Amino acid sequence: MNVLTIIAVAVCVLAPGAFCESSTVAWCYHNSSCSDSTWPTIAPLHCNGTRQSPINIASANATENKNLTEFTFEGYDNKSALATIENTGETVKVNFSAGIKISGGALSESYDSLQAHLHWGNGTAEPGSEHTVDGKRFPMELHIVHSKSTYNRNATLAVKDSEGLAALGFFIEELTGVDDQPASWKTLTSYLSNISNAGGNKTIHDNISLDDLLSGVNRANYYRYLGSLTTPTCNEAVVWTVFKEPIKVSKNLIDLFSTSLHIKNSTSLMVNVYRSTQPSQPVSTQPKASSSTKSGYSLALMTFALIMARY
Ligand SMILES: *[C@@H]1O[C@H](CO)[C@@H](O)[C@H](O)[C@H]1NC(C)=O
Ligand SMILES: *[C@@H]1O[C@H](CO)[C@@H](O)[C@H](O)[C@H]1NC(C)=O
Ligand SMILES: *[C@@H]1O[C@H](CO)[C@@H](O)[C@H](O)[C@H]1NC(C)=O
Ligand SMILES: *[C@@H]1O[C@H](CO)[C@@H](O)[C@H](O)[C@H]1NC(C)=O
Ligand SMILES: *[C@@H]1O[C@H](CO)[C@@H](O)[C@H](O)[C@H]1NC(C)=O
Ligand SMILES: *[C@@H]1O[C@H](CO)[C@@H](O)[C@H](O)[C@H]1NC(C)=O
Ligand SMILES: *[C@@H]1O[C@H](CO)[C@@H](O)[C@H](O)[C@H]1NC(C)=O
Ligand SMILES: *[C@@H]1O[C@H](CO)[C@@H](O)[C@H](O)[C@H]1NC(C)=O
Ligand SMILES: *[C@@H]1O[C@H](CO)[C@@H](O)[C@H](O)[C@H]1NC(C)=O
Ligand SMILES: *[C@@H]1O[C@H](CO)[C@@H](O)[C@H](O)[C@H]1NC(C)=O
Ligand SMILES: *[C@@H]1O[C@H](CO)[C@@H](O)[C@H](O)[C@H]1NC(C)=O
Ligand SMILES: *[C@@H]1O[C@H](CO)[C@@H](O)[C@H](O)[C@H]1NC(C)=O
Ligand SMILES: [Zn+2]
Repeated sequence: MNVLTIIAVAVCVLAPGAFCESSTVAWCYHNSSCSDSTWPTIAPLHCNGTRQSPINIASANATENKNLTEFTFEGYDNKSALATIENTGETVKVNFSAGIKISGGALSESYDSLQAHLHWGNGTAEPGSEHTVDGKRFPMELHIVHSKSTYNRNATLAVKDSEGLAALGFFIEELTGVDDQPASWKTLTSYLSNISNAGGNKTIHDNISLDDLLSGVNRANYYRYLGSLTTPTCNEAVVWTVFKEPIKVSKNLIDLFSTSLHIKNSTSLMVNVYRSTQPSQPVSTQPKASSSTKSGYSLALMTFALIMARY
């Protein structure tokens, strides 16, 4: 097979198509001539940097930071916000319409939500999340990509700021015991057979929101670190938020990603689309129930016991 038939020519830096810059880097996941071990050589400017993503998160090493408050999600409930779904040749990407944003979560300002895409392995049998936690790799990982509102979606400016982008990572794990669940993921994956070839895209019907795709996930608990884009050109411009609780999706729907999509100019299926973990970075997280809460709780219990004792 000619290398040109399998490499992906990325004119764009982030889940290709979303962030374009002048340089062109031919990268791929699977041919040894352009797979991730070559990225530090073929895209040395950033891919050979010192705060590269993804990483393994050692949960016991995460420092406690009480500043890591909850996010405010604006437009995540909008059932018209997911505009298109596209096979980029390296992933499946969903573009959002304007007006979706996040703030809070210890971010310095609000960030516009631009797109979401996924990373996966080979069905539920071979997991393919990018981040790992204590060495555990999950079946899939959803990335929701945002850029600092000040930059008004200008990627050139955003990638020059060490915190210009904010990525939310959600693990996806198998929901056992049921097929075709949840409904939002059944709807989303129903498009995959229609974008089986690279470059294919579809307009999304007006009935799934980001909240629907994230349903059941506690978004107050997450890991935070500063890292990079996980595809060339690997710019070190990303504030990463990796949520602890996974989204649960049934096996039959997870399997559709590794069986429905083809890579660029090829009959090969799109499998194992994730970068290897990079050297670890300082990670922080919310404090465990603080001592003041604990003593408040026991005080409340004591008060309750005293009140009860009077009756
Ligand atoms: C990988 O690319 C090389 C050219 O650099 C090509 O000769 C080889 O056949 C490709 N391998 C596969 C598995 O496609
Ligand atoms: C790959 O496909 C694109 C269109 O999808 C085409 O423009 C390009 O020439 C093809 N490249 C090769 C090497 O076949
Ligand atoms: C998604 O957005 C990117 C960046 O704005 C654009 O290049 C791409 O063409 C869009 N995809 C579709 C299918 O509209
Ligand atoms: C990457 O950086 C390391 C350490 O700075 C250096 O030893 C290595 O030669 C660099 N590799 C490339 C391809 O630039
Ligand atoms: C936790 O951090 C310490 C000190 O940086 C390091 O030696 C250790 O390997 C880390 N633990 C894990 C599981 O990564
Ligand atoms: C929390 O925020 C305060 C005020 O911005 C800052 O001074 C402090 O260093 C932050 N703490 C941590 C652990 O980042
Ligand atoms: C939901 O998104 C659509 C498409 O961008 C927009 O037209 C509509 O005003 C939004 N609805 C709300 C309530 O913001
Ligand atoms: C993916 O799994 C299928 C069977 O489930 C197997 O036939 C195929 O070889 C696997 N592909 C890779 C790249 O491991
Ligand atoms: C982004 O900002 C740069 C620098 O200010 C400017 O040259 C470029 O034209 C802008 N791009 C877009 C798409 O507005
Ligand atoms: C969205 O609409 C499609 C058909 O219009 C339907 O099959 C699907 O169940 C709906 N999904 C949700 C999450 O309501
Ligand atoms: C996918 O394509 C088939 C026909 O090729 C069509 O019946 C179906 O409605 C399409 N589904 C979506 C979600 O566009
Ligand atoms: C989306 O697909 C249509 C064909 O269905 C194609 O004409 C169009 O160029 C594609 N758009 C993008 C942005 O790839
Ligand atoms: Zn990603």
